[in-house]
Amino acid sequence: MQGRAFYRPATGTIKAGASKVGTRPVTPTVSGPRRLTLAAAAPGRESQAPMGRFDAAYYEQYYENATTCVSDQQTIRRLAAFVAGYLEHLDIPVRSILDIGCGVGHWQGVCRELWPEASYHGVEISEYLCDKLGWHHASITDLDPTDLRRSGTFDLVICQGVLQYLSDRQAARAINNLGAWCDGALYLEALTARDWRENVDRQRTDGEVHLRAGEWYRKRLTRHFQNCGGGVFASRAAGVTLFELEGNA
Ligand SMILES: C[S@@+](CC[C@H](N)C(=O)[O-])C[C@H]1O[C@@H](n2cnc3c(N)ncnc32)[C@H](O)[C@@H]1O
Repeated sequence: MQGRAFYRPATGTIKAGASKVGTRPVTPTVSGPRRLTLAAAAPGRESQAPMGRFDAAYYEQYYENATTCVSDQQTIRRLAAFVAGYLEHLDIPVRSILDIGCGVGHWQGVCRELWPEASYHGVEISEYLCDKLGWHHASITDLDPTDLRRSGTFDLVICQGVLQYLSDRQAARAINNLGAWCDGALYLEALTARDWRENVDRQRTDGEVHLRAGEWYRKRLTRHFQNCGGGVFASRAAGVTLFELEGNA
């Protein structure tokens, strides 16, 4: 791939350690300052989150109740617009999308708006959501991607708020799967131990998760991806030219 013209306006800064607990919800937000609400696990927990955990009550609390929800459609629209703009900037085309652990499907509608020609595949481990919304039922640890698309690969893989529900072993396997399934870009959000300490709104973020160091994720992701910043990771197969200060090549 050819090099890219170097111009991008500066954006706002994030002050390290400045956010007190409760500044961002990781899977979406409501209004006002960005609150980080990620869904996470207790340190050391090893078993995969039981599928029954992701039932009607879970989605009511984190997605439907306005006072406790971690995310909403408006927040995802803003995030997706950023991802779409950044991928266009990086020359990564989006014709196929895998949304693994897609939840109530906030990304589905905005993907249709942003990439109208792209195929969208929503996958969930929640039997409740699969029955209700028709998602493909599988786990990120054992999905056969050729059940969705003959090539088994996707230009854009979205994995938002899922990995923290997995044990170390399962999360490592999931990251290898993401590497195998993605030949363009990955949008990844996973709650880390530091996020839980410093960044998230604990009232809206699921803390019953596996809290790991960011380094744990970076070490495994770097085998497959270039970190472009903003939660965007370019597959090494995509051959993206990344300026040195844009991310961690
Ligand atoms: C915090 S929600 C995020 C939902 C959606 N990605 C979003 O950001 O709106 C986590 C979702 O991950 C799903 N999930 C958890 N473990 C999973 C697994 N092993 N494979 C696939 N999905 C999983 C849950 O069912 C739940 O819907």
